[in-house]
Formats: sequence, C-alpha cells, structure tokens
Amino acid sequence: MIRIDKYLADSGYGTRSEVRSLIRLGNVSIGEKIIKDPGAKIDPDKDKVLVKGAEVSYSEYEYYMLSKPAGVVTATTDRKEKTVLDLIKTGKRRDLFPVGRLDKDTEGLLLITNDGELAHFLLSPKNKIEKTYVAVVSGEPPVDITQLFREGLDIGDDKKTEEALLIQLEKNEANSLYTYEVTITEGRYHEIKRMFEAVGCKVEYLKRYSMGCLKLDPGLASGQYRELTSGEVEQLRSLNKCK
Ligand code: URA
Repeated sequence: MIRIDKYLADSGYGTRSEVRSLIRLGNVSIGEKIIKDPGAKIDPDKDKVLVKGAEVSYSEYEYYMLSKPAGVVTATTDRKEKTVLDLIKTGKRRDLFPVGRLDKDTEGLLLITNDGELAHFLLSPKNKIEKTYVAVVSGEPPVDITQLFREGLDIGDDKKTEEALLIQLEKNEANSLYTYEVTITEGRYHEIKRMFEAVGCKVEYLKRYSMGCLKLDPGLASGQYRELTSGEVEQLRSLNKCK
C-alpha cells in the first residue's frame, strides 16, 4: 500500500505539492469514489486510480537504454550542463538515475532506471559485469599492449586494474590512429583513458557498446533512447544467461 500523493507524483503528475492540490480539488478518484485526502493509501496492484477521469498507468520501475551523445553529463541534475536525464523525455518516474558513469565526451550505452537493486548488482565490483567499448587512440602502442591490458596496469590507484580484454580492430595508416575493442569489469574514474595513458597512448574517441548482456540497440541514433524489454531486464538480473 502506498500514499496516493506519492503514487501520483511517481506516475508523473507533478511534484508532491502539485499532486496534493490536484487531490484536494477533487480531481482524483479510486474507481468512482473521489478521494480528497492526499494521505489515503492505495494498492497499486488492485486499485484503479483516475485523474480527471483518465486512468493512471503506474510502474514501480522504469528502464531505459540511452545512446548517450558526447557533450552531455552523466548526472541527474546540473546547474550548467545538459544531463542524460534531460534526454529522457517520456520518463514518468521522478527518481530515475543513470547506472554508472560515462565521461562527458564518451558516447554509447547508458542504462537509466529507478531500480536501485539492479543498479547495485550491475555496479558491484564483485559481480565483474563486463562493459565493452570501442576506443580510438593516438600514439604508438607497445607491441605487447594486449598482454599489458590482460595482466593489469598501474594507473596511479592503490591497486592495478583488473584483467581487461583488448582486441585491435583497425590501424589507420593515414592518420596513425588505432581502433580497439576494450572489455573491462570495473568502473573506475576515467579507467580506459588512464589505461591507455599508462601505455603511452591517448584516447581520442570512446563509445560503450555493451554492459553485461545488454547491447546498445543499433537502431538508436545518438541521443535517442528506448524502454528495455522485459527480457532484457531479466537477462541483466542474471549473470549467466547472456545469449
Ligand atoms: N573509461 C573512461 O575512461 N571513460 C568512460 O567514460 C568510461 C570508461
């Protein structure tokens, strides 16, 4: 059972004080019965709540896959910068947040949800959730770069980085840029940039393509998003069922 004012605020009908006045003005009913007490309790699974005669659709959790563009900060609010939450126009829940962090200039897959338990599961280092990126780097990589990434690098933290998988995808002879696929299981601050720095290279472009079982939908243009399917949510919750 939850308070009707919270239920309506969570469903996108405004702030708590806005929905309280909506309720007090007699705009809200449970079935036929008008409710004027913002503290009244309802059962979201059983009660049919209407605002001005239209049924409220309530979801406890929302899950969005965003194709994050460069130039947007991974935060819920920011006084100066555009945030990833500003891009989720159809989100009803007011408690949405990004799961983990991509740098302002990093693009790609970002999960946005209000499911704290799932976020904790995905971010907990002990679960070693794989995150795969494509990195375009400048500088001359050492010949044993793949081994160095696998063995772990000193990037100035207390501990070396965990084993990372590096696959060279391309070397552009014209501009001397190398393209790699990098898979890491941690989420340290600027981790991939600092790993390449540790071997004398500079990341010029970085994009994330997957997180656990979740793959960036190729149909999403930069800045676009879509809801996750229930299958995707289930797969994210279980470590071993990626297909
Ligand atoms: N590693 C980085 O350096 N930056 C990111 O945004 C993500 C991983």
